[in-house]
Order: sequence, then C-alpha cells, then structure tokens
Amino acid sequence: MCTDSQVRGWNKAMTTIIQTKPAIPETVREDFPALAQEVNGHPLVYLDNAATSQKPRAVLTAIQKYYEHDNANVHRGIHELSNRATAAYEGARVRVAEFINAPGREDIIFTRGTTESLNLVAATWGAANVAEGDTILLTEMEHHSNLVPWQILAQRTGAQLRFIPVTGDEGMLDLTTLEALLEGVKLLSITHVSNALGTVNDVGEICAQARSRGVATVVDAAQSAGHMPLDVQALGCDFLAFSGHKLCGPTGIGVLFARRELQESMPPYQGGGEMISKVDFHSSEYHVPPHKFEAGTPNIAGAAALHAALDYIDEVGLEAIRTHDAGLADYARVQLSEFDGIRIFGPTVGRCGLVSFVLEDVHALDFATLADQQGVAIRVGHHCTQPLHAKLGVPSTARASFYFYNTSAEVDRFIEVLQKVTKMLG
Ligand SMILES: Cc1ncc(COP(=O)(O)O)c(C=O)c1O
Repeated sequence: MCTDSQVRGWNKAMTTIIQTKPAIPETVREDFPALAQEVNGHPLVYLDNAATSQKPRAVLTAIQKYYEHDNANVHRGIHELSNRATAAYEGARVRVAEFINAPGREDIIFTRGTTESLNLVAATWGAANVAEGDTILLTEMEHHSNLVPWQILAQRTGAQLRFIPVTGDEGMLDLTTLEALLEGVKLLSITHVSNALGTVNDVGEICAQARSRGVATVVDAAQSAGHMPLDVQALGCDFLAFSGHKLCGPTGIGVLFARRELQESMPPYQGGGEMISKVDFHSSEYHVPPHKFEAGTPNIAGAAALHAALDYIDEVGLEAIRTHDAGLADYARVQLSEFDGIRIFGPTVGRCGLVSFVLEDVHALDFATLADQQGVAIRVGHHCTQPLHAKLGVPSTARASFYFYNTSAEVDRFIEVLQKVTKMLG
C-alpha cells in the first residue's frame, strides 16, 4: 500500500506530465471523423471508450474497400474474388496472432466478440471437461459476460462457482487466500482489466499459480486489448478473449485465443458449413481447428477491418496508449477527489484509463443526462457488473473512460461540467 504522501507526490507528478507532455499528439484526432462533431451545440467530448471506441478512417476505408472490390465468400471458391476474400480473412487471423504473440494462426478463432468467445469456451471446453462437483473460480469484479456463461455451465453440469474477493472501494483482488481458493478448481476465468473499477490484475502471476495446479485458465482481455501490449505466451493462459469494437475495429468481430492442444479435444461450438470436412446423413467429420469452431459464413469484412485497426493501433504504439490512458484517468481522478461527498472506485495508483464514481448529492443518471446536454458522453449504470455493485452497496456509478485520442482539455471540460451540475443539483 502507498502512503498518503506517496500518493500526493504521484498525483502531482501525473498532473504535470499529462498537462505538459501528452504521450500521443492531438493530431491523431484528425483520423477519427466521429470526434469532429458537435453534440447538443457543444464539441463532442467522448468519454465512453470502455463501452466502445471510435473508428479511424483506416478502418472505415478497409470496410469500404472490402465491399467495393473483394466481396465474396471465403474458402470454397476458385474465383479471384473468393481468393481475395479468403486472403483478407486468413490474413487477419495471422495479424491477430502476431498482435497477441500467439504461437500461430491456428490458435485464433474468430467470434462475434468477447461475449461469444467466453460462451464458446464454456460451451465446448466446459462441456467436455467440467462435471458435477467441479469448481470454476472467477472474481467478484467480472463482467456479466464472464459470469453468466459459467453460471449456465454450472447449472447444466452441477459444478459450483467460487469467487476471488474484491477488497472494497479500492477495487483490488484479495489474493491472500488464492492458494486455498485454487484448491480443487477445474478452471479459472478472470478479467485482465476491470471495466467498472479500472483495476489491472496481475493475470500472468495468477495464471501461473493456477497452471502449476493443473487449472485451465481464461483471460477476459476486453478492456486490455488495444490498451496495453498483450502476449499470450508471457501470460501463460490457455484462452484469451477480446472484441474488435473496443480497439478501433468494427462491432461483430472478436477473437478467442485457444491453445491448439486444447482445441483438438474440444467439441464443436455450432454445426454447419465451413466447420466440416465430410458429412453423411447421420454423422459428420469436423474440419481441423480453428475452422471447426467457425460454422457458417464468417464476418469477413469485420476481420479485414480488425486487421486495419490492429495496424493502426500498433502505429500509435501500445506502450504510448497505456501511458496516455492511465495519465488521463489519473488526471481526472485527482480533480474528482476535490469534490465534496465523492466516492471514487478503483485503485489510487496503477489504474488503467477509466474512473468510476458516485456523488452523495447528485444521482449518477442526472449527471450523465446533463453532461450529455453539454456534449460530454459518459456512461452510467452497473456496467454489466451487478454483483460487484451490490457488494459495493451502490446500484450504479458514473464512469468516464479514456482512449488515446482523448486530451487533458477534454478532462478539464468533463470536470467543468461536473462542477456546473453539482452546483445546480447539489
Ligand atoms: C471486461 C469486459 N468483458 C466482457 C465484455 C463484453 O464485451 P462484448 O460486449 O464486446 O462482447 C466487456 C464489455 O464491456 C467488458 O468490459
């Protein structure tokens, strides 16, 4: 734990850094057409990036180019357009593997997003490996996408769920009893970064402890992919899930990294075209992984655009993005802490690029509604973490979440609007 004076020193240093030396130049905003608009008569300040990011022109162009020039179905064609579509789709798989340092493209399964990726693991690996009396270990800070699929699996199989506790408002995982919590566990599924608290979990260390006990490991990287470098081999996880739309890509495309050895023994997720090698009236032989898990016509344009998004993000630089986002969140947190009657959730030091809070006298929904009238977009609610909010004793929080195109001036504007609203309502 840090002392108060250490925290004050950090706050001061952070405020100076973010005001004087942004990690990413403001000109990057010119690549995002949606940012250059007015909302309700004010310049848009988009601080809802944990829900979804805005899209750069390179991604919009990739979608248009695909549909204007290359559109065809993949894999089964012998004509030029089908070959181009296949090259775009499979090229994206290679690019994703490189982005997260997977051993090969065969480790990458395309899905609709993080939610589908996690459901796929629960429905396939879970169905084959989890039985009555088994335990699945999660944390109290999981998004519903990393909770409900395991609840469904537990109900189907008679397995039980166990949770690593969250310490309280500072939003850390209490790992003091991790060894005991891992006892008899079949699978651990954990978020890398909390979308409600901004906590960055040490998933590498937690996965290492789990794997040393033979526990399978799943990482929900919805909030970390595109925000910090990811290396699945260094993390040592068996599965890792993320969504394209949170890292400058389009909606409807996501990724599941699944270690190849595990894919071999997993039953298919859905049946249909593309996932088979031979079919007769009563049975089928399945295609090799990862195609075995991709039934039907895939989101080819989405994969091509995800490829463009990953290229774009790598050009900006993941280390620079991590520093920039965290700097803005800290800059916001320091200013928020000046408000009377505010409760800020998540760690003081080492948070990622978001900050959640409640104000004693102002309902979060009223604040968000009035902020929107001033062109400031933030999110209010339980952020799909209802059990965590119940534990914290608040039905909802207000959340400002940042990405590399946000600026310290936008944080200032957000704070100015909050001051106005608290004066009006407080
Ligand atoms: C931590 C976390 N996990 C999972 C999800 C679900 O992502 P998607 O809706 O893109 O499937 C989200 C979305 O906000 C999230 O923040």
